[in-house]
Amino acid sequence: MVSIKPSHLDLWVGAKMIEEFIGIEKLLFNIVFFLKKYLKTTSWVTNIAINPNTGLILCQISKESFFKFYLLYINNLSVCLFLLAIIGRLLDCLETKIFKIMATLGVNIDHIANVRQARKTVEPDPVQFAFLAELGGADSITVHLREDRRHIQDRDVFLLKETIKTKLNLEMAATPEMLEIAKKIIPDYVTLVPEKREEVTTEGGLDVKSNVQYLKNFVGNLKDSNIEVSAFIDPLSDQINYSKEIGFNFIELHTGKYAELSGSKQYKELQRIIESTHLANDLGLIVNAGHGLNYYNVKKIASINNMNELNIGHSIVARALAIGLEKSVREMKSLIKSN
Ligand code: PXP
Repeated sequence: MVSIKPSHLDLWVGAKMIEEFIGIEKLLFNIVFFLKKYLKTTSWVTNIAINPNTGLILCQISKESFFKFYLLYINNLSVCLFLLAIIGRLLDCLETKIFKIMATLGVNIDHIANVRQARKTVEPDPVQFAFLAELGGADSITVHLREDRRHIQDRDVFLLKETIKTKLNLEMAATPEMLEIAKKIIPDYVTLVPEKREEVTTEGGLDVKSNVQYLKNFVGNLKDSNIEVSAFIDPLSDQINYSKEIGFNFIELHTGKYAELSGSKQYKELQRIIESTHLANDLGLIVNAGHGLNYYNVKKIASINNMNELNIGHSIVARALAIGLEKSVREMKSLIKSN
């Protein structure tokens, strides 16, 4: 057992030097690595989770023991010092809010394909719009390949896999056909959603509780192909517990009800989503959320502690039309005038 208490300034300078040498991203990666490896069970780090998209850590530290460094079971002095240095830097960053851990944004581009399919033509092309979404800062691109192919087509998903620079989240129903497609494409992750032919959009979450054995095999099959798997579920404790039992890596909490409600009812639904996030985190599940989120209601969901990613489609595409239409009309008008 080793217990070391170097001065705070030494730690800070050491970490700063390391940060300058390897860059903040690698520094954070190392923090994650060391914290996970050595400190998961110590009392002052009360909760550790990793955002797999950004490599940032979500780390809850009890205030009272903020600057206590008791390291157990580490007998390599240089590892200890390095660890202490980067933790010191992390604590400073947290204290001075140099970086804030925030949810990432997954942009759902199904509605681009909806416009194309209205004419069964080649434009607008969701692949091109995925590129623009990435330029705007999207952290991942989400598409739902539906059984009836009403919007996104197989070709879109294959091309997106080839072209996007961020991550591909393939939403799909848990059917044998979709399993085969996912295994060919190997998206970064798959989100399993319920699907009914007659629905306008995904209604309600996946009932994982009633399909445990089937989903265990399905999820296992995807994981064997190195695909991480998420379950789009309602914020209910039994659905969360069963998601863990089935072996999902992530859950995506359905925010549709929250988006529809207002006033005290919306507040109550928000509390349900917050409690669900905490429960899932305690079980080691990474939590995403989505459906119905827009420019008015997103903030409260985004501020939930340990929220990993928000998947948003309709409101972003609607806003793109609103802020882009005037310019596109102007361009057409000037073409007509120039003749
Ligand atoms: N997450 C899931 C699982 C969805 O099915 C959808 C809708 O396709 C979204 C997020 C995005 O919802 P919205 O288009 O309302 O932002």
